[in-house]
Parts: sequence; C-alpha cells; structure tokens
Amino acid sequence: MNIRTISAMQSIVRAIFVFLIGMGWASGAQAQTPIVIKFSHVVAADTPKGKAALRFKELAEKATNGRVRIDVYPDSQLYKDKEELEALQLGAVQMLAPSVAKFGTFGVREFDVFALPYIFPSRDVLNQVTQGPIGRDLLKKLEPKGITGLAFWDNGFKVMSANKPLHRPADFKGLKMRIQASRVLDAQMRALGAIPQAMPFSEVYQALKTGFVDGTENPPSNFKTQLMDDVQNNLTVSNHGYLGYAVIVNKKFWDGLPDDIRTALEGAMQQATLYANEIAQRDNERDLADIQKRGKTKVYQLSAREQLEWRQAMLPVQQQMANSIGPDLIAAINKLAAQASR
Ligand code: LMR
Repeated sequence: MNIRTISAMQSIVRAIFVFLIGMGWASGAQAQTPIVIKFSHVVAADTPKGKAALRFKELAEKATNGRVRIDVYPDSQLYKDKEELEALQLGAVQMLAPSVAKFGTFGVREFDVFALPYIFPSRDVLNQVTQGPIGRDLLKKLEPKGITGLAFWDNGFKVMSANKPLHRPADFKGLKMRIQASRVLDAQMRALGAIPQAMPFSEVYQALKTGFVDGTENPPSNFKTQLMDDVQNNLTVSNHGYLGYAVIVNKKFWDGLPDDIRTALEGAMQQATLYANEIAQRDNERDLADIQKRGKTKVYQLSAREQLEWRQAMLPVQQQMANSIGPDLIAAINKLAAQASR
C-alpha cells in the first residue's frame, strides 16, 4: 500500500466517521425535538376551559414522555373567535376549544342545537347528550371541514346582564345585546325584543364600557374573569341557555401523528375532559358568589313566575330553528329531557 492509498483510506474512514456522528447527532436531535401542539382559546386561564387546557397540557406531556409539547395561548392572544377556526383549518394552530354556539355559522348547523334556549333542563341531560352517542355523531359532522372533534368540555348555563334590571322579557326591549356569532342567539335576542350584536369575545368588555352594546350573556365564569362587573351593574341568573365547548384538532395533523402518540393524547384528553366537567359547575357557582361579594353588580334571581315568562318568550325559537338544525336532533334531546323528568 503506498502512501497515497493510505491517505485516501484515511479520508474515507474520516468521512464515514463524520457521517455516522452526523447521523447519530441528527437522530438524537430528532428524538429531542418535541411535536408542538398550539392550543389557542379566547377566555382567561382561570376559567373552566382555561384550567382544563392547562390540565390537558400537563397530562399530555407526561403521557408522551415529553415527545409532545402543548403550548396553550389563552385570552385570544393568538386569534379571535372566527379567526381561530380558520387558523386551525390552515394548520397555523393544531387545537382549539371554541364555544359550541360558534359552529353553526361555521357551517355545521346541527351544533346550533346547543344554543337553543331551554333545550337542556339539567346538567344531567346535557351530559347524556355531550358524552353519549348524540355527542359522538355531532363531533363526526366536523370531519368534512378538516376537523377532528375530540371531546366536549362544559362551562355552564348563562346569565344575562345590562346596566338596568332585567326581570321580565319587556326589560330587554330595544337593548343592544352582544351575542356570539349564532343565528339561534340572534333569534333568541329578537324574541326578547332586544337588538342582537354579534362580536368576538375579546371585544365585549370594551363594547360594554363604551356603550356600543348595552348588555350581554355568558356563564358567571366568563363574566367574572372579563371583569364585566366593572361595566354591567345588573345581572339576572336566568339559566336560559347553555355554553360549552368542542375540543377540536386539525384532522390532517391528528391523523399524521404516530399511533402511540395519538393514543396517549386521547387518554390525556379523556382525563382532562373528566376534570373540565367536574370543575365547571363548582367554578361557576363560586364565580357567581364572588361577583355578588364584590358588590359592583346586583345579582337577581328570577321568581317562578318570571322564569315562566322568560321561557314563554324564548321557547318559540326552538320551533323557529328546528328545520335548519334538524327536527330529529331536537326531538332526541327533548326525549332525553322527558325521560329524565319522569
Ligand atoms: C363567548 O364568545 O361569549 C364565549 O363563547 C367565549 C368562550 O369561549 O367561553
């Protein structure tokens, strides 16, 4: 072997060595680079949804041994209501939990059922819907939109607020009421004689402060954490409608995950869902009590007679929206409600 051959062989060995180190380093780096799931939502971190998102992060990162990282962005930090759904479809974020009331105007009309006034007589009936076959069928309807529905998370029943007492339906006459973008909520406010104004959640506080709108509706947890008691001096515990969430992911992203990762995330989601649905009622009760304690907003409980009047005013919305939502779906929920009342 001459000197040139030895030197050529040394170069080859060096090159192989460098290549192997490079490979080893690269695959090591790959193993260390986690899959990032951006989870965007529009409410405060200290709400049932905000807390459940953080619980999911904790459970998911643990279950995947750090192979997945969940970055939670609360408070519309990344996107507002409608934008976030578009961002999910485009893959700019991977996970959201929008209010179920917002899917109707997004083109999944069956979801409008959740916004119907008085459709759920109790949490028990609601849970039978969201955690049972009806809920599973509803989540499947998101697939043509490129979205996989993973779970329903609870928030609670809504209160109404304004800068005047709201005791009877007539008190709503002419009030401009902020709603989520929903045809059902539009019809509901009109049934009360109010003027509905759809706007993103992140803009509500300012709109109330400047008087652009007169009042709004939401569960106490959102009312409290958005400091709405600074700008609304009357609140009525009406429980006239429900607000909860569908936890959704970009379908292509979800289907493309390694099977073991997806299974681990599904497990984490199941546990986070139990947590979300366990804390929602308690948190809302606590938040209503806190609003009362702070004393800026007068909290009013409807009498039995007033409750009946509110019901009579808003119930026709169920009939009005039945054809576009699907009469069978409404009938199936009403059947569960009737069974529960026996
Ligand atoms: C709203 O827009 O009023 C709520 O749906 C916000 C939320 O996600 O709870």
